Amino acid sequence: MSNADKDELTDNQSNNEQEKAAIAIKIATELTDAPDIVSDELIRTHELKMETVELSHWYADKRVLSGISLPIFENRVTAIIGPSGCGKSTFLRDLNRMNDLISISRISGQVLLDGQDIYDKSVDTVKLRKRIGMVFQKPNPFAMSIENNIAYGPYVHGVKSDEFPTIIESSLRKSALWDEVKNRLGDTALSLSGGQQQRLCIARALSVEPEVILFDEPCSSLDPHATAKIEDLITKLKEEYTVVIVTHNMQQAARVSDYTAFFNLGELIEFNRTKTIFSAPERKMTEEYISGRFG
Ligand SMILES: Nc1ncnc2c1ncn2[C@@H]1O[C@H](COP(=O)(O)OP(=O)(O)O)[C@@H](O)[C@H]1O
Ligand SMILES: [Mg+2]
Repeated sequence: MSNADKDELTDNQSNNEQEKAAIAIKIATELTDAPDIVSDELIRTHELKMETVELSHWYADKRVLSGISLPIFENRVTAIIGPSGCGKSTFLRDLNRMNDLISISRISGQVLLDGQDIYDKSVDTVKLRKRIGMVFQKPNPFAMSIENNIAYGPYVHGVKSDEFPTIIESSLRKSALWDEVKNRLGDTALSLSGGQQQRLCIARALSVEPEVILFDEPCSSLDPHATAKIEDLITKLKEEYTVVIVTHNMQQAARVSDYTAFFNLGELIEFNRTKTIFSAPERKMTEEYISGRFG
């Protein structure tokens, strides 16, 4: 390939990125219905469900998050965006102590849920993760039947088995999967398509009646049709739950979230209403990122 061809290719790629970014900005400006208030004003008028206070995170001696203070509002969708490796997944996993399982992992600062520090010694992490559920990048259903995938969590938490049918139906209805699977609940979950498996994982998270649901790039392995279904679902879920979503896809952040936090190199660069982040960011770095110039 000649250098001119390579230049053209790079130009096309960056045009493509910039086009995508322009669409994201348009979507955010037209769709987001979050109230028109910012900063301190915003914090006073909304119910805080969670909050991180000066949260830093190390893996061994490498610091990957630096003093992140972020509000997470009840019944709203908060998106976390930023370049690969900036600490989005680490931050998300700190919100339900999932990183406790990594021996070299260490934090300082606080993560509050309804005003209580979830890292307090008295906190039972099994109960905590019942309140704060998580859906991962790749659908990871258990190798068991569709219905048992959903009954498993309630079973572990001591729910009586005669309640399982009701929980299975309501969880599958909430995750918009019921009509597609109601006649095959005994089939293995692995027989479902990728998009259906991801909705099953959402149903599984819902089955234990969480208060907060964390999504880590939930659509990155799905086609556009399956992605649209999950996005619709997330928008509905916020009526009942508080949602935090990490996404690579800025158009997705613009479509589904009310608030957006932009991270870079382990720092929170900017947090605001999604509409403001995409239409009038305060920091130059945010503007460069959302307009597709880096990351
Ligand atoms: N289990 C781990 N052990 C050591 N380093 C890790 C681990 N997980 C992530 N990291 C490092 O932490 C930084 C942030 O990673 P991550 O939170 O996965 O970022 P993102 O989700 O934004 O791509 C990266 O430098 C990554 O290599
Ligand atoms: Mg990640």
